[in-house]
Amino acid sequence: MHIQEISLQAFRNLEPLHIQPTTGINVFYGDNAQGKTNFLESIYFCALGRSLRGKQEQQLIRFGAHESHIRLDVVRSHRTDRIDVHLKRDEKKGIAINGIAVRRLGELFGTMYAVIFSPEDLSLIKEGPAERRRFLDMELCQMSQVYFYDLQQYTRILRQRNTLLKKIKENTKLSDTLSVWDTQLAQCGEKIIAARSAFLARLDEISTLCHEKLTGGKDTLKTLYKPNCEQGQLEKRLQRSLERDIAFGSTQVGPHKDDILFLVNGKEVRQFGSQGQQRTTALSARLAEITLIEEMTGEKPILLLDDVLSELDENRQRYLMQSIEGLQSFLTCTGIEDSIRRYVQTDNLFYVQNGRISRP
Ligand SMILES: Nc1ncnc2c1ncn2[C@@H]1O[C@H](COP(=O)(O)OP(=O)(O)OP(=O)(O)O)[C@@H](O)[C@H]1O
Ligand SMILES: [Mg+2]
Repeated sequence: MHIQEISLQAFRNLEPLHIQPTTGINVFYGDNAQGKTNFLESIYFCALGRSLRGKQEQQLIRFGAHESHIRLDVVRSHRTDRIDVHLKRDEKKGIAINGIAVRRLGELFGTMYAVIFSPEDLSLIKEGPAERRRFLDMELCQMSQVYFYDLQQYTRILRQRNTLLKKIKENTKLSDTLSVWDTQLAQCGEKIIAARSAFLARLDEISTLCHEKLTGGKDTLKTLYKPNCEQGQLEKRLQRSLERDIAFGSTQVGPHKDDILFLVNGKEVRQFGSQGQQRTTALSARLAEITLIEEMTGEKPILLLDDVLSELDENRQRYLMQSIEGLQSFLTCTGIEDSIRRYVQTDNLFYVQNGRISRP
């Protein structure tokens, strides 16, 4: 799939713009703090209905403006869809597909698939399990509305169960009602565990191959799902952890405590890997995501590459650029160095200066 045109109004520091990108690589270059990442963020928002790394949506509206607008046309196999995003101060955001308002965020998923590579990807490896669950959920939600609804329901039931646990601490009689929540939570939770398990099994196969190519066979990568509770065991485990849950006032078992393990050469890369090995692991995971999205949806995703080339050595750069051939991508960098010229035609360049995007 590819974006045919995109226009922005009062989005971050960007001047009103209307761009018709090419279906290949589009390069946005300029000095620091000019608006390159902001531009990618607007595309990301249309795919996922939320901003990067959970930043507040209000922050996306240009300083001093009351509202912000993103509109883009995305082309896939047999149709074109228009996505409109309307962000307002102190009001709920509005999203429409082909002029019809989206009532629930899940309805947006599947309209456009995007994969983002950014320096912040390192946090996928370095930070705590919450970051890796976020990665899992973002990818699975994009590809499956069913997963999104299961996750939403799980989160809602979990919240209610936790509220009840706190009340039980004061009034033990209430514990009779808990088993109803346990059954519901287990039903939803099992679906999430199953989906994550299947997703990661395939991600592991693909990312292992990517990693081998990226490192010229020097390193091996293994990606493992580390579920907090094994499949089929959730209800039993919930019952068993009841006393502990009451003591904590919150649910201590379930997929909201899952993690992913990345092993490089058999050792956990988070603890033992070098900075470069960690970066390459994140890159392999992202590259695998491209293939997975294509496998699961039949569509090639749109790629957002935020300042990633400069951090890679020549071999990794070459492999990355080979891997994204045939996909529409939006690449940011501070300068058009030889490494970029090698891969990009000069008519696909956009210069970003002080929020204005123009052809050089
Ligand atoms: N809501 C907003 N309204 C106006 N300007 C904003 C808003 N949010 C952020 N900015 C400005 O956008 C600029 C940052 O833009 P961006 O992150 O896209 O830079 P960049 O070109 O990617 O730079 P770098 O090369 O350093 O990554 C900052 O100077 C910031 O002040
Ligand atoms: Mg940036």
